[in-house]
Amino acid sequence: MPKPQPRRQRGIDAAAVLAWYDANARDLPWRISPADRARGIRPDPYRVWLSEVMLQQTTVAAVGRFYARFLHLWPTVADLAAAPLNAILVEWAGLGYYARARNLHACALAVAEVHGGDFPTTAAELQKLPGIGPYTAAAIAAIAFDEPIAVLDGNVDRVMARFRALKTPVRETKADIRADLQAHVPVRSGDFAQALMDLGATICTPRAAYCRLCPLLSGCAGARLRPLDYPAKPAKPDRPVRHGHAFIARDDEGRVHLVRRPDKGLLAKMTGTPVSDWTAERAPMSPPVAGNWLKRGHVTHVFTHFRLELDIWSANLAPDSLAGGQWVAPRDLHAEALPALFRKVLATVGLDQK
Ligand code: ADE
Repeated sequence: MPKPQPRRQRGIDAAAVLAWYDANARDLPWRISPADRARGIRPDPYRVWLSEVMLQQTTVAAVGRFYARFLHLWPTVADLAAAPLNAILVEWAGLGYYARARNLHACALAVAEVHGGDFPTTAAELQKLPGIGPYTAAAIAAIAFDEPIAVLDGNVDRVMARFRALKTPVRETKADIRADLQAHVPVRSGDFAQALMDLGATICTPRAAYCRLCPLLSGCAGARLRPLDYPAKPAKPDRPVRHGHAFIARDDEGRVHLVRRPDKGLLAKMTGTPVSDWTAERAPMSPPVAGNWLKRGHVTHVFTHFRLELDIWSANLAPDSLAGGQWVAPRDLHAEALPALFRKVLATVGLDQK
């Protein structure tokens, strides 16, 4: 009896992916269209880097206005390097994951001062810069410099896991996926990377797979089975809860007392109201200074590693009763580096901004 042959894996058809991209590329503010790219227009590495850092953990839709504002204020990496960190934190407020903003500044400084204003051109060199991990390094190297390197983000992982019908959670197959994809990276590596991202965002999405529209259909193992079964999602650990109190002090002019957060830890160097410690058990409130503190509401905010439940208190106080911090008029709140958590806190007393 002839030995059964292992089924030959079909390759990833990079030419079909690129042809699909030529016809269907999304129009994104930081993107050089495939037509312009073919005419020799090259992406500005600064713009590619800025967009990729903003897009880490954030959706394309959420990034748009922040990206435009940053480019308006700081058109080059030298401009961004020369900006005070606080100005960057103010503009970043609302995008979340503020370590990214601090690293953005550190990286701009490194590019301006160590690399003479030019981004390194390889993933290996890019990865040495602050805030640039393996994904971002590969994305910049491919998109801005056409380094032939596989770029794997969450969308691409999913496309590949379905293509190969890999059921186990992606973190267990990532190395294989990378090697598989790397073997198929074409000369137009930047367009190829973005094509796969777009495929994952529009055709092979977490909740739907429009296989008839997909350039990878003929070789796709998942499409012949049930594509949405791939890859398996790892069980999510329950998010722990922490409890705390936030204190909104106002003076007779309606100004609000804000403090700068410590240099280290969650929301480091951002601006907020005074808060208690955040603890696993509810604790009685103990305000920063005695006063007629009234409960004004409650805020729930979800961080990556825990859910925060905050009781909100407010009091009218004389400005000299609180040491440190600053008193800010409501009309000036927009110029503060207030993360989403503290915007919610202030909204409980009607202080909404932006
Ligand atoms: N997500 C992250 N980077 C992207 C890019 N360059 N194009 C489309 N989606 C992306």
